Amino acid sequence: MNVDDAVSSMTLEEKCTCLTGEGYWMLGGCARLGIEPILVSDGPHGLRKQAGAADNLGLAASEPAVSFPTASAVACTFNLDLMRTMGEALGDEAREQGVAVLLGPGVNMKRSPLCGRNFEYFSEDPCLAGELGAAYIQGVQSCGVGTSLKHFACNNQETNRLIVDAVVDERALHEVYLEPFRRAVEQGRPWTVMTAYNLLNGAYCSEDAQLMERIAREEWGFEGVFVTDWGAENDNLASLPAGLDLVMPGPRADYRREVAEAVSRGVLSEADLDRAVSRILGLHEQHVSSANIGIKRSQAERLDVARAVAEEAAVLLENDGILPLDAAARIAVVGAFARKPRYQGAGSSKINPASLDCAFEALEAAGVPVAFAPGYDADTGEATEEQLAEAVRVVSQAEVAVVFVGLPDASESEGSDRMDMALPAGHNALVERVCAANPNTVIVLQGGSPVELPWRGKPRAILLSYLSGCRGGRATADLLLGVANPSGKLAETWPLRLADTPCADFFPAQGRQASYRESIYTGYRYYDAVGIEVAYPFGHGLSYTAFSYRDMRVADADEGFEVSFTVRNDGDRAGKEVVQLYVAPRDAQVFKAPQQLKGFAKVELAPGEERRVALRVPRSSFAHYCPAEGAWDVEAGTYELRVSSSSRDVRLCREVQVAGKAAQPDNAPGAYHRVAPGCFTEEAFALLYGRRLPKVLTPLRPYTANATVGDLQTSLLGKAVCYLLRRELKLLLPGDVAQQKSLELLAMDTPLRMLAMSGMDMNLVAGIVDIMNYHFLRGIKRLRSLKPAKQDEAAEASSGKGAAQGAGQEVRTIEEDEGRCSTSSQKGAGA
Ligand code: BGC
Repeated sequence: MNVDDAVSSMTLEEKCTCLTGEGYWMLGGCARLGIEPILVSDGPHGLRKQAGAADNLGLAASEPAVSFPTASAVACTFNLDLMRTMGEALGDEAREQGVAVLLGPGVNMKRSPLCGRNFEYFSEDPCLAGELGAAYIQGVQSCGVGTSLKHFACNNQETNRLIVDAVVDERALHEVYLEPFRRAVEQGRPWTVMTAYNLLNGAYCSEDAQLMERIAREEWGFEGVFVTDWGAENDNLASLPAGLDLVMPGPRADYRREVAEAVSRGVLSEADLDRAVSRILGLHEQHVSSANIGIKRSQAERLDVARAVAEEAAVLLENDGILPLDAAARIAVVGAFARKPRYQGAGSSKINPASLDCAFEALEAAGVPVAFAPGYDADTGEATEEQLAEAVRVVSQAEVAVVFVGLPDASESEGSDRMDMALPAGHNALVERVCAANPNTVIVLQGGSPVELPWRGKPRAILLSYLSGCRGGRATADLLLGVANPSGKLAETWPLRLADTPCADFFPAQGRQASYRESIYTGYRYYDAVGIEVAYPFGHGLSYTAFSYRDMRVADADEGFEVSFTVRNDGDRAGKEVVQLYVAPRDAQVFKAPQQLKGFAKVELAPGEERRVALRVPRSSFAHYCPAEGAWDVEAGTYELRVSSSSRDVRLCREVQVAGKAAQPDNAPGAYHRVAPGCFTEEAFALLYGRRLPKVLTPLRPYTANATVGDLQTSLLGKAVCYLLRRELKLLLPGDVAQQKSLELLAMDTPLRMLAMSGMDMNLVAGIVDIMNYHFLRGIKRLRSLKPAKQDEAAEASSGKGAAQGAGQEVRTIEEDEGRCSTSSQKGAGA
């Protein structure tokens, strides 16, 4: 297909029809021109193709697929080749199931261990997340399947994610939050980028021209399709001119109709429309032209990839030599997760595993006789005295106790954040009791995000498997037994306690605004600046062998440096070492993190083998973003290049002189130069932000379509609605109080405009808003006026005419009404 010719031959209605999905997962194309519909499906760490009922919460069934370790695990491999291989396996599976675009990867940064979706994101470090994101994209797209890099941008908390405004200063925005997207876009060239639900500095991401046009397209050269997250579209006339192409899910007749009408009246430019349509048709074309790319791996081979990733992802946090286990020893395994593992998180990434193993069976299959006791309830995490006593009895008769603990399913999900970093009390009690009963205790930790380990120091080893996918059981058994050698390193810091984290006092933000008060000081950037002790630093991970480093050389290369050094495996087992390169400014005047990861590699070495490793450090590694100039700057001065085995284990170091702009003090508040716990006050942040903070829009009266169900409780009528909702949930889920509660919480945070996602016309939503504002007549008139229009549309659809055509009259009615819920009024208020 010649996309330009196709666009120029399309009617206005046909073009507008392309702008939204044909359904929950389909993009319609253009039947008249023979442009076939294409299918998109979630990701990121397995395919969630739904053949029947559709949802974005992982509730309805999906086709069986390989469940790979989730991003927080994969990141610990620090292995870009393996990431690419996993991408290929995902791409193969998508291709086999007829999926054109896989909705992933997610490269959002981790601000706090509490974010409910941390398991779906790679790292607290933008370099690592961006490089992995690019490799994932390259892998998937090499199979002729597109990706959707998400969630662009600053979608870092789940609480109020649909309405929260992420207020981020320019330095943090560019250096931390956009950086992984930049790397992934420039190196991976994703077919699509998904705009986040939230607002960023006062504008919805799907309406943010600065983000989409100026930064992603002009600066990074993004040429693909901007697609909304499911339901993230906000104002029907604001997205297209800001650079958004595709609204999902569809069909969203109201969107098609309003855009068509606005283009006819010259309110929206036809050139903008054509650009969006040609990108969308370009996506169809990319799919079609990949038709003859073959499948690279069988299902069995993909399962092997899942196992290889799980093996390289596991991080050996502690080991005094008890691991690897002696297979001849009497081993007791306790903890329900050994048989019913936590291997993936909940929400839109939740897939239906084609097969699932567990560590207990894998150990048995390896010929190791193991005694077992569950120790706690796998779902609730609670332990009864009987369960604990049984576990103690079992481990007392064994030479070694292996205890499986972690976060239960309910604590990690899209849509909500954790409120603390604690393991369930039952799990902690089990570890304490087992350690007291058997001095040879090994812990296997499952979960997608860091937790507090109050018993740290008591067990002899801790193996962290994160959420290791459907082959995590075999991988864990191999690692415990020494068939495989652990080589994962932490892609995020494990702090000692929640109170130590950079935004402990203000994460997750509860209202409609989240101030990123810690600015650039996320993860190790913060812990290093404060000089605080952590449980396990970024980049940490042990091996069954030992590596030594020597002979560091630094040579000029292009405008930066090439750092080379020798790594040697000093032990008697083959192993893999993740070498890390950090840049540390010595005499910065501008506030900066004490050190930043700028390069890494994974090196595989046989016993006694040594290898020269060379890492490039381009000039950009020394740059910081300069808000006054709206550009990157390099500050002249001395920098250390540190070759490290973890962020706190520097093995080799060299100072270099870097030419650049003469160092000059910035005007940032002292808190950002002398970082201390609790220093990031609202006042300091307001000064750093340097412009008026966006206005917080609460309470929302009169209500708009952006009022959440929870907001409605500020009126009597709204209270009644919420009461009815709770009653309905009780009737719907009798006895399941936890599920009732979590759906209620979800509903309370949901803005009314999201009803459009379930197929409701936005004008119907506007009618509901009128009624909630006690404009009964206007609301009812609006609701009634919609019925004939719907019938018209149905008639037109069946007669083959476009949806936008007969709807103009209704649009006029809406526009005459100043009470409409539009966000433009919101943005005005916030400006
Ligand atoms: C999630 C996206 C996902 C989409 C479709 C949204 O709730 O934020 O990551 O791709 O649903 O399921």
